[in-house]
Amino acid sequence: MTKPLETQDAMTKAPSNRDINIALNEAKKMVDLIKTPEVDVTDEERQWVAESTYQNFADHINKGFLEYRKSVTETEDFALTDWQGEGSILKDVMGREYIDMLGGFGLYSPGIRHPKIVAAAKAQLDRSPQYSQEMLDPLRAHLAKVIAKLTPGDIQYGFFANSGTEAVDGAMKLAKLYTGKSGFISTLKGFHGKSLGALSLLGKAVYRQPLLPLLDGVRQVPFGDADAVEQVLKYAEEVGDGIAGVVVEPIQGEAGAIEPPDDYWPRLREICDKYGVLLIADEVQTGFGRTGKIFGVDHWDVTPDIMCFGKALGGGVIAMSGFFSTAKVWKCMEPNPFMHTTTTGGNPVACAAALAQISVLLEEDLAGQAAEKGDYIKKKVLEMQKKYPQIIDGIRGRGLLLGMEFPNDEIGYKVASGLFSRGVLTAGTLTNAQTIRIEPALNIPYELIDEMLKRLEETFESLV
Ligand SMILES: Cc1ncc(COP(=O)(O)O)c(C=O)c1O
Repeated sequence: MTKPLETQDAMTKAPSNRDINIALNEAKKMVDLIKTPEVDVTDEERQWVAESTYQNFADHINKGFLEYRKSVTETEDFALTDWQGEGSILKDVMGREYIDMLGGFGLYSPGIRHPKIVAAAKAQLDRSPQYSQEMLDPLRAHLAKVIAKLTPGDIQYGFFANSGTEAVDGAMKLAKLYTGKSGFISTLKGFHGKSLGALSLLGKAVYRQPLLPLLDGVRQVPFGDADAVEQVLKYAEEVGDGIAGVVVEPIQGEAGAIEPPDDYWPRLREICDKYGVLLIADEVQTGFGRTGKIFGVDHWDVTPDIMCFGKALGGGVIAMSGFFSTAKVWKCMEPNPFMHTTTTGGNPVACAAALAQISVLLEEDLAGQAAEKGDYIKKKVLEMQKKYPQIIDGIRGRGLLLGMEFPNDEIGYKVASGLFSRGVLTAGTLTNAQTIRIEPALNIPYELIDEMLKRLEETFESLV
């Protein structure tokens, strides 16, 4: 007979953190708190959440995050704990409110807890949260059909996963299978995720170098430079290196909302056709209205061979991602449909949320709202730039994928922390505060935009 776990542990000599009773009590304590209506959560419980979150991050997640946060907020107030949100307002566990200008880095395009998206996910949760893995699942198939109708050109087939990086890895596998080649071209400062495949494409040494060697045959070229792509393809052909695909963000997000020249995407299309390689658009951040069109590539009327989605696909309610391609490319996956699989990707709750997200995107014209509101913010910030040229260099980007550019990191950090202390949540790019991204919900009300702009001006004023 197997001995009880505790007895087994007592018999081992190695030191152990194991304590089954604590595990059970702590699990139940948080579940009970989650189930407590917000108005009934006591001050003592809130304090417990704030303090234990800080401690748990230090003990069980990563102390580095606490240091990073400190530098952004320039505050010793560690009670700052994510707790609740609605639309474009976030509340920490102590009940303090913040205007959310970050939108979870593009995750919250329809706002936090959009009622139609939450309702769809809850309804599906009550019917069937996951699938059997054996029967055919209707929501996944239906969502694929809807996305085929939403995407440009002849994009038709797709696969769903949970994170953006998985979508990119899947797209890379598809391109390799289809072309029988293994190399990729991506861009300097480009960001595609951090699993080993997507990381190989990444355009920054800081995340790649410590993990080399990554995938062979990946070359990064400057973003926006179609000639550079053509040159690499030409030389690769001359020396017999096979390139499967060119992977590019329509507008670089993590790099700080960098737009390419207007002829870039049409030229990429031409060049990829000329050399017989696949054009892969990473729309994980730009997709579903973010840049003022439904997809980033819609700005240039280009149909890629493969498109990757993530972030806003799940409506800010649930993790969801996917990659889609034309029937011609997808055919290589037909002989063995198990070439790429996942147990939880495209689960029914995620599909319900994604279908509701797409309805909201179209019914509320989120792309149109992003275009208008992005222009409004840009205009106002440029007016401020004339007044405070020593603080801000400018603002760039499209729709609500914007980046404010500062003369240096130090000023960027001061602006981010000044905004934060005034109740506006934003962030520098992960490694660099010289650019601060503005990526709110696409339906953020104008009153909140104006309030944010007022607080931004106050911050600039405090720094002169
Ligand atoms: C363009 C792009 N691709 C891929 C990813 C990776 O997505 P995830 O963090 O969900 O893996 C991101 C994330 O920021 C992204 O911006």
